[in-house]
Amino acid sequence: MKEKIEGLRAEIESAMEVVETSRSLYELKLKFQAELKTVMSGMKDLPKEDRPTFGKIVNEFKQSMEEKFEARAVVVRQKEMEQKYASERIDITMPGKTREQGALHPITLVKNELIDIFAGMGFKVFEGPEIETDYYNFTALNTPKDHPARDMQDTFYLAENLLLRTQTSAGQIRVMEKETPPIKILSPGRVFRSDDDATHSPMFHQMEGLVVDKGITLCDLQGMLAEFARKMFTEATKVRLRPSYFPFTEPSVEVDLSCSECGGKGCRLCKGTGWIEVLGAGMVNRHVLENCGVDPDEYTGFAFGMGVERIAMLKYGINNIKTLFENDTRFLKQFEE
Ligand code: DAH
Repeated sequence: MKEKIEGLRAEIESAMEVVETSRSLYELKLKFQAELKTVMSGMKDLPKEDRPTFGKIVNEFKQSMEEKFEARAVVVRQKEMEQKYASERIDITMPGKTREQGALHPITLVKNELIDIFAGMGFKVFEGPEIETDYYNFTALNTPKDHPARDMQDTFYLAENLLLRTQTSAGQIRVMEKETPPIKILSPGRVFRSDDDATHSPMFHQMEGLVVDKGITLCDLQGMLAEFARKMFTEATKVRLRPSYFPFTEPSVEVDLSCSECGGKGCRLCKGTGWIEVLGAGMVNRHVLENCGVDPDEYTGFAFGMGVERIAMLKYGINNIKTLFENDTRFLKQFEE
């Protein structure tokens, strides 16, 4: 029996010395416990009087081995930690990954600036839907089917009476139908037309303005536009109204601003004229007021609509509208504020 114990001690101790991981140490311990069990099961063959002495020897053996296992476990765990630290070591002097920060798109910048300017004159913002009915986009704006003015805008139809709005003017109707004058709204939004070249994009942004109240005249329109021009461009910017035609306004005007590039002397930007066309406007046609249940004998109003891309292009000297939609960050970075 004693030899068996000593044999087991020598075997386990030498195995313990080469064990390198907690896992194999644990497995070795299981093996030791199993073999110790076999040794102990031999006890029943011993003479009864020898059993206590032998039991004591086995217990001491068991205890001393457990201490050795514990001591070895400390060493092995230490080694394992060292290896883990070595493998997980990171070089904190390495340069980090930089993450580029976004900024507002020039269209958004101009849109926000326009809203700021007009909000300062008391306008509230109303946003209409991008999918409109034929009625709001055309008919109620005094542009019935077969009206020649419909040809001015190449419309994307979704169904017989549903379309992608071609103009934010559609919002005028929605506002006038719901509210009673005085009305003073600004309606920014995306519009869609089947049109595509250096200065036209099938999707672009417009900003609509509508004022309806008692005694509103063309002078009010001119005054507000003059204020807008000075704030958006320079103090010296002048406004010029030219007669034009829109079905929903009467009279209608085309609004020019004095060229910001040459100050009105004539240059390439203004094609030598000293003026740049920026928007359409006019006095709300009485048929439009009637269509919305507003009495044209009691109220008058003016409306205007401008292209946000056009304003951005003039303000920043951009000559191709496509650059605004390509999302090339080298281009967009120039407008970061
Ligand atoms: N909706 C017109 C267009 O897209 C622009 C416009 C002209 C709007 C005159 C108006 C206006 O409100 O009075 O070409």
